[in-house]
Amino acid sequence: MALTLEERFEEMKKIRDELLHFKESPLYEYRVQNKYFPVVGEGSHVANIMFVGEAPGENEALTARPFCGKSGKVLDDMLESIKLNRSDVYITNIVKDRPPENRDPTEGEIKLYAPYLDRQINIIQPKVIATLGRYSMSYIMNHFGLGTQVGQISALHGKEFVAKTGYGSATIIPLYHPAVALYTGGNKDTLLNDFQILKKYIS
Ligand code: URA
Repeated sequence: MALTLEERFEEMKKIRDELLHFKESPLYEYRVQNKYFPVVGEGSHVANIMFVGEAPGENEALTARPFCGKSGKVLDDMLESIKLNRSDVYITNIVKDRPPENRDPTEGEIKLYAPYLDRQINIIQPKVIATLGRYSMSYIMNHFGLGTQVGQISALHGKEFVAKTGYGSATIIPLYHPAVALYTGGNKDTLLNDFQILKKYIS
């Protein structure tokens, strides 16, 4: 059953409080030493579209806001291209703490933090889960029973997969991570093109 706005807020707050004290995480000490924050997520708690990235970078860990550095600027451009504001969607990551030196999240970290993401999905109940990068694509597709269809992101980006969730069906759309656009201009065009698919889910 869908939660009220107040209930959603309260549940998200619980997640934030738990993450603040998440001493079981191998990233906890590093967070405390560097005066970083966990990055829970940002945006509308009733969003139709939820974006799931990988893990916070330094800017994100310093501000507690997802995608607020260079990749975030690319994400903002993509959202603007389909006339969406950040406040219309929900943006989060699988791993909520910054891995040292921006390394990729480990399998263990993904497993440890994934239950928080699962709870966020159940709170928001998005119609679309747009994954940003191969780690979130793989986690989300496996989690929603689409494991046999997981492949290279180069083959799956921009495709739509219908998944059964605990709250009904949702569409999963794998997208490249915005950082790819920082390396090659052509990738930005691919990303822009893939974002067009989201237009039909905007109400
Ligand atoms: N990259 C991510 O995957 N997430 C962020 O929040 C920032 C950069």
